[in-house]
Amino acid sequence: MAERTRFTIVMRLQRYLALAGIASRRAAEELIVAGKVRVNGKLVRELGSRVEDGDRVEVNAKTVVMPQREVLVLHKPLGVVTTMSDPEGRRTVEDIVREHRGARSARLVPVGRLDYDTSGVLLLTNDGDLAYALTHPRFGVDKVYRATLRGRLEPEMVEKLRRGIFLEGRRTSPAMLRVVSVSRDRSVVDLTLHEGRYRQVRRMFEVVGHPLVSLERLRFGPVSLGSLRPAHLRELTPSERKALDVLLLNSRQNAGPAKSAGDSRGDAGRKRRPRGDTQRH
Ligand code: URA
Repeated sequence: MAERTRFTIVMRLQRYLALAGIASRRAAEELIVAGKVRVNGKLVRELGSRVEDGDRVEVNAKTVVMPQREVLVLHKPLGVVTTMSDPEGRRTVEDIVREHRGARSARLVPVGRLDYDTSGVLLLTNDGDLAYALTHPRFGVDKVYRATLRGRLEPEMVEKLRRGIFLEGRRTSPAMLRVVSVSRDRSVVDLTLHEGRYRQVRRMFEVVGHPLVSLERLRFGPVSLGSLRPAHLRELTPSERKALDVLLLNSRQNAGPAKSAGDSRGDAGRKRRPRGDTQRH
């Protein structure tokens, strides 16, 4: 079910109104200036005004209800695109969420992405700050992948991959790599990454001469795939929810200058778009 964050969220009034679906940010500014908005009973006409958790906001004397934070765990199957719609008509994660939840899926967007030919844990949320905290490399959230590759992975290659290899002139961050099994023509490894460049795992193994046979994400931060069946969804467990709360709190404390002060909640996936090959997984 929907979950309410226990930490204080502060944001500009016009943004709050936009996130609550009252009006576009521009139109919300007009409502404020026109004297249609009250906060805790007081008329507010200044555009820089901020609101926080627990404030009662009214527009035209009607109380505004802010949608609560939601997080779902999806076992993304193979052959599905991590988008909300696909011009080529392929099945999307949005189709799966709608099959299970109908119109309630509105505003839930994927946290990062998995390739069409990758399966495993995919989180969906309506909370942009949570998506940011989970995907930005500065917060170092683990993503664990099980990769099955062609050929026998030799120990020198394992070392090389651990140290990081060059993709488009930039070295990948050090990775944890655990060899699960090796035979003459197949190797299986678990790889833990903190970054998510475009098709990173596939490209890493291609560069060292071991193209992937399959790729599955076993864990994203505190959320493991467990026994969730492909194309099925689940809610967070209480301990996962708690771990994500802590992650979000830490990310707010360590956000630094890259993150604008004040506006601390956003539409998931709508902002801070990755550049170049830095698409986040
Ligand atoms: N790395 C990849 O190459 N593909 C994914 O889907 C996720 C990580």
